[in-house]
Amino acid sequence: MENDIAQVLYTREEIYRRVCEIGAQISEDYRDKDPVFIGVLKGCFIFMADLMRCVSVNCSMDFMAVSSYRGTTSTGAVSINKDLSAPIEGRHVILVEDILDSGVTLNYLKSYLQVRKPASIKIATLLDKPARRKADIYADYSCFDVPDAFVVGYGLDYNERYRNLPYIGVLKEEIYA
Ligand code: IMP
Ligand code: MG
Repeated sequence: MENDIAQVLYTREEIYRRVCEIGAQISEDYRDKDPVFIGVLKGCFIFMADLMRCVSVNCSMDFMAVSSYRGTTSTGAVSINKDLSAPIEGRHVILVEDILDSGVTLNYLKSYLQVRKPASIKIATLLDKPARRKADIYADYSCFDVPDAFVVGYGLDYNERYRNLPYIGVLKEEIYA
């Protein structure tokens, strides 16, 4: 598995430090707001687990599962495989994603959830790849910017592999070429 990585971008220590900074920022911004964190499965699972433990205010959690990706290229279509388990009307929502790439997924999800009349919706993403943005959407909280390369680890996959790498790395091109 490690042999498939061309370059380590962020080590587990660097990630942990930055995730805690974001958690502290969110705790400050959402004091007395009882936010609901909505994780977008599966990519969010490690980031969300670490982030939540750095959030020190009352909050709740829910998850959605969507598919928008085949291999390394976006299909442009988003389908909902698992919806929320509770209503979000009047709630402050924080969408938690692994990576904001073209922005198609989060743009779709944001308008999909807006219909349910939450008090607010913000986006917390582990990674932001601004070079590839197609939709008019930005992250309210982002841990790191990444270059225009395919990255894996810390929850991010290539064809369901590499999610368990404890760091974030660039996948060798020969793996997906
Ligand atoms: P979007 O293009 O912003 O809609 O990205 C949708 C999804 O594509 C993300 O939530 C990731 O699961 C996946 N994705 C985009 N870029 C990468 C990458 O570099 N590595 C792994 N997954 C990616
Ligand atoms: Mg993915």
